[in-house]
Amino acid sequence: MTTPTTITVCDTCKLEGWDAASGATDGARLADLIEAAAAGADGVSVRRHSCLMGCAGACNVALQAPGKMAYTLGRFEPSEAAAEGIVAYAADHAARETGVVPYREWPAAVKGHFVTRHPPLD
Ligand code: FES
Repeated sequence: MTTPTTITVCDTCKLEGWDAASGATDGARLADLIEAAAAGADGVSVRRHSCLMGCAGACNVALQAPGKMAYTLGRFEPSEAAAEGIVAYAADHAARETGVVPYREWPAAVKGHFVTRHPPLD
């Protein structure tokens, strides 16, 4: 049985050189793509939050589920490949009792993007 994993997407992240006239932040674009990729994904939900305090490493997301290892990932471009990799990783996280997914099973799109991990509270 899986415990659902929540992806929290920073919707105010801006990559270097972000154009204020573009109409949306890079984080909001990534959030749109992650929400689309997660539609129908088993055990994955998505929410937005303004600033995860990792602004210099935009774009940032966090993955959390009760009783499991939590992760922050960053340095993403707002692309379909990134969104699909984040959602695939979240689905793997949901399917694992501890939330720990072996490196060999990580989607290529998330490799090199891990920033922090946080063990669950006792
Ligand atoms: S604006 Fe995204 S982490 Fe601060």
